[in-house]
Amino acid sequence: MATLRFSYFLLLLSVLSAFAEDGSIGINYGRIANNLPEPSKVVQLLKAQGLNRVKLYDTSSEVLTALANSDISVTVALPNELLSSTAADQSVADKWVEANISKFYPATKIEAIAVGNEVFADPNNTTKFLVPAMKNIHASLVKYKLDSAIKISSPVALSALQSSYPSSSGSFKAELVEPVIKPMLDLLRQTESYFMVNVYPFFAYTANSDQISLDYTLFKQNSGVVDSGNGLRYNNLFDAQLDAVFAALSALKYNDVKIVVTETGWPSVGDTNEIGASQANAASYNGNLVSRVLTGGGTPLRPQEPLNVFLFALFNENQKSGPTSERNYGLFYPSEQKVYDIPLTEAELGSSQSTPSNGSKSQQVPATGDMSETSVPSGQTWCVANGNVGEEKLQAALDYACGEGGADCRPIQTDATCYNPDTIVAHASYAFNSYYQKNSRGAGSCDFGGAAYVVTQPPRFGTCKFPTGY
Ligand SMILES: *[C@@H]1O[C@H](CO)[C@@H](O)[C@H](O)[C@H]1NC(C)=O
Ligand SMILES: *[C@@H]1O[C@H](CO)[C@@H](O)[C@H](O)[C@H]1NC(C)=O
Ligand SMILES: *[C@@H]1O[C@H](CO)[C@@H](O)[C@H](O)[C@H]1NC(C)=O
Ligand SMILES: *[C@@H]1O[C@H](CO)[C@@H](O)[C@H](O)[C@H]1NC(C)=O
Repeated sequence: MATLRFSYFLLLLSVLSAFAEDGSIGINYGRIANNLPEPSKVVQLLKAQGLNRVKLYDTSSEVLTALANSDISVTVALPNELLSSTAADQSVADKWVEANISKFYPATKIEAIAVGNEVFADPNNTTKFLVPAMKNIHASLVKYKLDSAIKISSPVALSALQSSYPSSSGSFKAELVEPVIKPMLDLLRQTESYFMVNVYPFFAYTANSDQISLDYTLFKQNSGVVDSGNGLRYNNLFDAQLDAVFAALSALKYNDVKIVVTETGWPSVGDTNEIGASQANAASYNGNLVSRVLTGGGTPLRPQEPLNVFLFALFNENQKSGPTSERNYGLFYPSEQKVYDIPLTEAELGSSQSTPSNGSKSQQVPATGDMSETSVPSGQTWCVANGNVGEEKLQAALDYACGEGGADCRPIQTDATCYNPDTIVAHASYAFNSYYQKNSRGAGSCDFGGAAYVVTQPPRFGTCKFPTGY
């Protein structure tokens, strides 16, 4: 009897694990910045972090060359500006695929082409070109015999939904359904591709923080939310938003089309009105999301379907416009230092599971400092130098900060408190931070032409203390 039960148990386990297939984590490598490391260094960073899926916003030959023979799967993009010409002329699509895809494949493991990005939200009205452009790109892939290896799709913003709450009421905006959603879904189904969607629970939270629980948004312990339409209980907003997309697909009878989350993330710094933007919350959201994805299972509506998710983003991008949050979605600073420490692979997850936490290791400041620094008030920021820009640029910026800029540079003079370590990066960091604090951490006061960037942990150079205000 015991043996029989045991084999039933094993059978049950194997059935369960077949259903709870593990998902995958990739990352968006956005490059709207002037201070990022060389692509070859970025590839090393991805490998060192165990990240084997990356998504780009273009087809930069420098980046695609750096990714060759790396065994990292790559999703590339055809920018919105090319949609109309690609839609109008098959030969334009052919040339694009030849110059930007077949030239790099298979050395570079291109797995998908995002044709356009959040096209329905493009102020230039490119929606009508989307499906024709996708069809032409697909026809080119067929021509080059790449269509079985490389999928085409197009990342859609959640704003394409008319309704997303409760999840079961999920539906696409009526004006998009016939012109573009259905033709796109037909194409995705026919080419066995998947629906790409960008999902940001942060936006919903920050706009409705009085109504949405932060714990629910950050995948922490909470009582959950019951969908009044189908009675399913949601433990987190991410699952609820995804199920709104599934419900919208089902409503149009495209239940068979799979989903990939092409962007999701949380900013580590924001403006004062961007409620919830903080380093601790970003670490919780992204850390718990990675754990949720890699431990398998789908959403309440599609429990068997593993989640495939691209985090946004690899780096903070200093040249993005918009609110402060826009420049602070990165998991890494341009210096390649981590903004916060979260597990990104199953191996790391395994080793961190013994320490019960919120999935967040954000409060762990490197152990070298004194205890007072481990409780960093949220929202506090400093400015440091970016060693990647080279000594010459740093020296020029340092001279400016200490001269016209009015930074307090007395502590970095010979034998003063912050003279050691006597390096240009340490001295420039001190001066840049002084300038930044004196200017009340205002927009643009930590840039110095890309030679500086904002950090959310106190800088560490010897025993020097960096002021946080003047
Ligand atoms: C390759 O892609 C880039 C960016 O998408 C584009 O500007 C260029 O025209 C493409 N090359 C060809 C031959 O289409
Ligand atoms: C809109 O199109 C114009 C002309 O092609 C281009 O200069 C501009 O950057 C586009 N705007 C956006 C938001 O894509
Ligand atoms: C965009 O398209 C819509 C409808 O297709 C039209 O009403 C609107 O005027 C267009 N806007 C621009 C800037 O072309
Ligand atoms: C989650 O994190 C917060 C702050 O980091 C901490 O106060 C709380 O005790 C943690 N909860 C659990 C369940 O670990």
